[in-house]
Amino acid sequence: MLEDLLRTSSVGGLMDKLAGLDRPGGNPRLKQIVLRIVGDLFSTIEEFDATPAEFWSAVAYLTEVGQTNEGGLLAAGLGFEHFLDLRFDEKERQAGLTGGTPRTIEGPLWIADAPMEKGSARLDQDPELGEVLFMHGQVRDTDANPVPHAIVDVWHANTKGGYSVFDTSQSPFNLRRQIETDAEGRYRLRTILPSGYGCPPDGPTQKLLTAIGRHGNRPAHIHFFVSAPGYRKLTTQINIAGDAYLHDDFAFATRDELIPGVVRNADPETMRVNGLNSPFTEIGFDFAIHRETDAVPDTVIVRAHAKAA
Ligand code: BEZ
Ligand code: FE
Repeated sequence: MLEDLLRTSSVGGLMDKLAGLDRPGGNPRLKQIVLRIVGDLFSTIEEFDATPAEFWSAVAYLTEVGQTNEGGLLAAGLGFEHFLDLRFDEKERQAGLTGGTPRTIEGPLWIADAPMEKGSARLDQDPELGEVLFMHGQVRDTDANPVPHAIVDVWHANTKGGYSVFDTSQSPFNLRRQIETDAEGRYRLRTILPSGYGCPPDGPTQKLLTAIGRHGNRPAHIHFFVSAPGYRKLTTQINIAGDAYLHDDFAFATRDELIPGVVRNADPETMRVNGLNSPFTEIGFDFAIHRETDAVPDTVIVRAHAKAA
């Protein structure tokens, strides 16, 4: 029945018309993409004998995704964002680009124009009882040469898993900074250990995940864009080892090379030297970035972002 109906001239004619193939004008590539996507959805409706009520509930669902601005969340949860990473990886492999810090998804929670600091920065500006984290490292190229004056744009969640701007209880650039590396490519930051992000429990993304037996949690992580003139922009994250969701990220972003060692320091003298009176955590992590090349598509990804008010 499936093949039969889809092969009839009435459905074939309908598809040509809905994709604009029966007339000039418009974007030819887009016409083919619309034809493919709608055709695949027609096949899905046929294969599962979807009822009109099921179809209209899907339309209502997509409307809700738009109204709640959860498109980026759903794209990550359904693996699209990780799939795009895998495509980049494969194109680089085919072009012979090896080494370098692995990329992983940006996610929907970056905000432009975080305050810029030279060499080192403190990210936590809102008072919060979190464990202090010191993180430091070097930006190098894939031949291990330091990259001076690279920009390390870093952002992460607070101890409740919330991101400033999206969580309006935080000040706009809390836990967000851009750090310019020093003459040896080094950066240093002080912040608090984040908690993992969880999808809004009443939102459409979580609704779908629950309906297919999945959770909507991410392990604790810290995001980075690392860029410098003449180099390919790196989008990546580190995960905090020990998190229950470390290898069960709803957004599929964990990569083994992105789980650095975590040193917990509770020695009173070391705490004192660092100006603290409670234990703290330290992470060392170096970034290796590729030189620009025409052999593979640019890694600067154009997408819509929320803005700090
Ligand atoms: C995040 O980075 O926290 C994130 C990534 C994908 C979807 C939702 C959140
Ligand atoms: Fe995140």
